[in-house]
Amino acid sequence: MQRHGRLKSMIVKRAYNCYIESDEGVKLIDTTMGSGAQIIGHNNELIGEIAKQVERGTIYTIPNCHTERVNSYLKEHINPTLDEQYIFCNSGTEANMRAIRLARAYTGKNLVGRFHGGWHGGLDGFLEEHPSNRGVPKEVNDLFRVLPYNDDRCFEKITKDMAAVIIEPVQGSNPRSDIKEFLQKLRDHCTKVGVLLIFDEIMTGFRLSAKGGSGVFGILPDIVTYGKVLGGGFPIGAVGARTEIVKTQGVFYGGTFSANPLSMCAAKLILETIIDEKHIQYDKLNRVGNLFRDELNEFFIAEEKKMRVIGCGPLNRIIFTDKFIRNREDRDNFEPENAQKEFSDKLRELGVFVNGNGLYHFSMSHTTEVVEELIGIIKQGCRGPS
Ligand SMILES: Cc1ncc(COP(=O)(O)O)c(C=O)c1O
Repeated sequence: MQRHGRLKSMIVKRAYNCYIESDEGVKLIDTTMGSGAQIIGHNNELIGEIAKQVERGTIYTIPNCHTERVNSYLKEHINPTLDEQYIFCNSGTEANMRAIRLARAYTGKNLVGRFHGGWHGGLDGFLEEHPSNRGVPKEVNDLFRVLPYNDDRCFEKITKDMAAVIIEPVQGSNPRSDIKEFLQKLRDHCTKVGVLLIFDEIMTGFRLSAKGGSGVFGILPDIVTYGKVLGGGFPIGAVGARTEIVKTQGVFYGGTFSANPLSMCAAKLILETIIDEKHIQYDKLNRVGNLFRDELNEFFIAEEKKMRVIGCGPLNRIIFTDKFIRNREDRDNFEPENAQKEFSDKLRELGVFVNGNGLYHFSMSHTTEVVEELIGIIKQGCRGPS
């Protein structure tokens, strides 16, 4: 198997462990793992179990035997302060749409705060700063207020006329572990002014810890959304909320594939392996994340590169500045334009696939040896001016 070479295109033929193989027969280390969804590894130990559900049916449109179990695992082991009934759907975007609708219905208010540099999916109202934002009516954007992230000036903009504020506990655009104080202030401020706090844990849920970012930072939201890891490689979205919020009457949630038996079977098995610490162990994921950051930052400093790795647990990003960044705005100010893409393209030729969003998601199949190899390849990619 060819380990690197100039790829004409990036069409994937198959994926296994932490590798993807292109249709041109090139094997690459995968650093995106289905945009963070495959935390065990491609073609992992659970896939065979999940596949058995295919024979039992993939779509019933009436409740299936897995959903109740998923609800009770989430209540018992993940979010004891939230209601047992979760709302299931098929993507993170859809979960956020439902969470916002629920917050509006419960509060009777329409305005929602969201943070600059955040990503909540492709819903109208989340795209104002995105380069591809055509087709979204101004009237929809006016229902959202964009807030400065990791910046106390946001608090004067979070006012009692808002239904909710939605935030990723750790933003993919500037993943960091020094955010607890800001999140705590946000929690306190939202409580004070009567605005619901929605944690978008679609990327961080079951990734940073069993209890996601909420567990790492010890902060409880009023509403939480999940996706990615919870689906074990299958499409899923989920919304959880405090009981009095979930009980709001007259809110529409349905959908043909919502809570389909295949995704719910996968979610049940993923939660079981998280609870039993069998195929997912967060100390191992954190260890490779720390190794990646420590070794590369030591190298970047020694070589006087204007590069750093930032991150939290197994979630990492290389930034192309040696300055401390407080948020996405700082990153945009300090990073040369296209630096992320140019470096990812270089790594692809050296046998590493980095997704367009520039995030490195480590899985259980990224062993210390694989991460050491990856570090070596990144060092190789850095040789020459940067
Ligand atoms: C934090 C966050 N929220 C929402 C989404 C949207 O999820 P999906 O792509 O499943 O719609 C993503 C996807 O990357 C995400 O990272």
